[in-house]
Amino acid sequence: MDWLNNACFYEIYPQSFKDSNGDGIGDFNGIIEKLDYIKELGCNGIWMNPCFDSPFKDAGYDVRDYKKVAARYGTNEDLERLFVEAHKRGIKILLDLVPGHTSDEHEWFKDSKKAEPGEFKDRYIWTDFWYGEARNLRGIAGMADRNGIYVVNFFASQPALNYGFLNKTEKWQSDVDSPEAIATADAMCDVMKFWLSKGADGFRVDMADSLVKFDDDDKSATCKVWKRIISEVKKEYPEARLVSEWNRPRQSLPAGFDMDFMLNWTGNGYDLLLRDTGSEKPSPIFKKDSKRDINDFLNDYLPQYEDTRESGRYCLITGNHDTDRVSYYLDEDERKVAFAFLLTMPGAPFIYYGDEIGMRYMKELPSKEGGYTRTGSRTPMQWDDSETAGFSTADKADFYLPIDSDLRGKNAREQMAKEGSLYNTVKEVIALRKANEDLLDNGNLDFVLREQGRREFGFKRGNLLIVVNPSEKACTVDYSDVKIKQLSEKKYSIGDVKADKGAIEMGPVSFGVFAIS
Ligand code: GLC
Ligand code: CA
Repeated sequence: MDWLNNACFYEIYPQSFKDSNGDGIGDFNGIIEKLDYIKELGCNGIWMNPCFDSPFKDAGYDVRDYKKVAARYGTNEDLERLFVEAHKRGIKILLDLVPGHTSDEHEWFKDSKKAEPGEFKDRYIWTDFWYGEARNLRGIAGMADRNGIYVVNFFASQPALNYGFLNKTEKWQSDVDSPEAIATADAMCDVMKFWLSKGADGFRVDMADSLVKFDDDDKSATCKVWKRIISEVKKEYPEARLVSEWNRPRQSLPAGFDMDFMLNWTGNGYDLLLRDTGSEKPSPIFKKDSKRDINDFLNDYLPQYEDTRESGRYCLITGNHDTDRVSYYLDEDERKVAFAFLLTMPGAPFIYYGDEIGMRYMKELPSKEGGYTRTGSRTPMQWDDSETAGFSTADKADFYLPIDSDLRGKNAREQMAKEGSLYNTVKEVIALRKANEDLLDNGNLDFVLREQGRREFGFKRGNLLIVVNPSEKACTVDYSDVKIKQLSEKKYSIGDVKADKGAIEMGPVSFGVFAIS
């Protein structure tokens, strides 16, 4: 059985997790110190944000050297030790692969930007004249001696790697099967194999849909590139697992990815579930007084889930390093129920570090390393309520980012000690998931109660019934509402949940898991 079937991931932003040497920045040895914490929570996988050599203009998503880790996190040997220590505890590690662009300080780019470029002349996308436009793409002019404009994928410091164009209209564009486009893909294969040979278990793949430029609207050409890369890598490392930042499982999973994320795109089903970022007054489904019902999520999620369940996993996240932390939108009780929902759905759930202890979104923080509004979700992990939050022995002024000024109730030590805390809820639901085959990825999913306009909802996973009441009002769910005759036992609940004489009585903001007899 594929280990992803019972995987539960923990995302680590390495600069902010745990500092072991007192320089104020998290590092590999710090993560090693805290592996037992991750294990105790019940996670058996880690996704670690980029940890490679970088000028950090986009927090490491601007890679200067794919095969060397950033000195601030330790050495390549320290990372290898992290793999070994994680494996000892039954935890797998996915590194973050950035295949679409590099830093403008990468050796390939330094060569390609010269007036007379050498071996890497076509590793990036350059027009053939210093003036004008790069057709519909974002181009940067005037920064290099080369007579041309380079195309960027994200920030100006992140030149796009050349995987070719599907419909070539200019002579400076490469075909998708040109030697230079193939060479870029081969270089990425090489990077992947390098880290897999050192003990990595796979990759989270950044902007995975960004490779081939227009008019690859249906992404069929990008998918073709991935099919080749992934089959090449899996030939040697069949155990490697990959999750794409794509949010189109109908494209990404058949292309060979094992998992895809449902992402925080304003107004999509996932956004409406926990955040509702497009509204002036956010009112996500899991907010007590929301007028929304679960269909706002399901109408987006279910068709994609159903179309792709045989080819891979469509994964739900509590948040990530790009999203506002969910605590900004939902109170602690709402989050308990919301996270319990995420953790009982198919796919492999991903918990963003600190979400399990209720860390806040520090909205007002000035931008750090290209974080902008994302910076507030990247602050140091709150291990305890001491001056330094147990993050580092450095002077607080030297911390990578400031810690929250109010740590009460929002630190690991306190959360772990308190019965019924958010941390303990998350931990218990992960344990429940692992103890019940029906809750794992391959268990089936049947939304039996999803009535328009009705706040409470219910779904079956095999022989389990899960009922959720996100509302501030109590409700009654009749057995006939959820198409069952009899329940045998209550397996888990949050808030007041009682099954009695043909109905389930649910208090405000509650969640229950029952065995069906
Ligand atoms: C992805 C990353 C984000 C980064 C961007 C450019 O969206 O998650 O943090 O800034 O790609 O690499
Ligand atoms: Ca450090």
